[in-house]
Amino acid sequence: YVQPSVRPQIITDYIGQQAVREQLQLSINAAKMRQEHLDHVLLYGPPGLGKTTLSNIIAQEMGVTLRQTSGPVIEKPGDLAAILTRLEPHDVLFVDEIHRLSPIVEEVLYPAMEDFQIDIIIGEGPAAQSVKIDIPPFTLVGATTRAGLLTSPLRDRFGIVQRLEFYSVEELAQIVTRSANILGMSAEPDGALEVARRSRGTPRIANRLLRRVRDYAQVKGNGVITAEIADSALNLLEVDSLGLDKMDRRLLELLIQKFESRPVGIDSISAALGEERGTIEDVIEPFLVQQGFLIRTPRGRIVTQTAYRHLGLTMPERNLEDE
Ligand code: ADE
Repeated sequence: YVQPSVRPQIITDYIGQQAVREQLQLSINAAKMRQEHLDHVLLYGPPGLGKTTLSNIIAQEMGVTLRQTSGPVIEKPGDLAAILTRLEPHDVLFVDEIHRLSPIVEEVLYPAMEDFQIDIIIGEGPAAQSVKIDIPPFTLVGATTRAGLLTSPLRDRFGIVQRLEFYSVEELAQIVTRSANILGMSAEPDGALEVARRSRGTPRIANRLLRRVRDYAQVKGNGVITAEIADSALNLLEVDSLGLDKMDRRLLELLIQKFESRPVGIDSISAALGEERGTIEDVIEPFLVQQGFLIRTPRGRIVTQTAYRHLGLTMPERNLEDE
């Protein structure tokens, strides 16, 4: 028995990201009317907001095959050429972590995206020849956590650039309710809201927490996801009332205690937490910034009064005078 996927397969099942959804739907409809490939799409934003899901949906809606790969996996130009030459017309090629393509592989992508051509070197040494070969018109869907990580020639070759935003609590509650139904569970509205409130604005986290709440509901309750069951299960997981997890709190507490609320550079934070800089920047910080717990300044990160209050601490007066 394989658990059913909670991932939406069609665009009408996709909840939230309304602007992105509408604009994609329009471009997809237009491309289909013209019987053309869809323009290349760049999706960026924090992890877990649905970039892979959207690429699936784009392929479904276009009625084409989705090929999936990721930046670090494509090591040599030949690896990419092999993928590109095997595509069918209008196929979607999803490249996750597209900012991690090596420069020589990226070079192959430019003419592929722009003219649906690749340059292949045949032979070696003085006899080597460059041959242009045509590839089928396709849609590249690139995903990255931050658009700023891409080189500008690559970024400029995407006709459609969409930023995914954190989801509202109401949208996440709809996602939790839908996922619970797919998993054969029943979630009371307040139960779904409790999971939603504590999911860091992120469907992937909501679906993960839902599975843990389901375990709890089945073992300790009668299988129904109530607000009380959700609360107890999430407390056990050390996910707090606003969804901050242990790592979020460690980061805020570090800035408060160790650095006494002075601006701190990302590398000092990375060393003190023993966590990679990229993970802090792309996974941990965006939600804390969005919630107003953390501010990124040119001199470093600082915690806000809101963070103090949430952690039950009082912001020292001194800090305000120093600024
Ligand atoms: N599961 C994950 N992301 C989703 C979304 N945006 N809508 C519906 N279900 C989802």
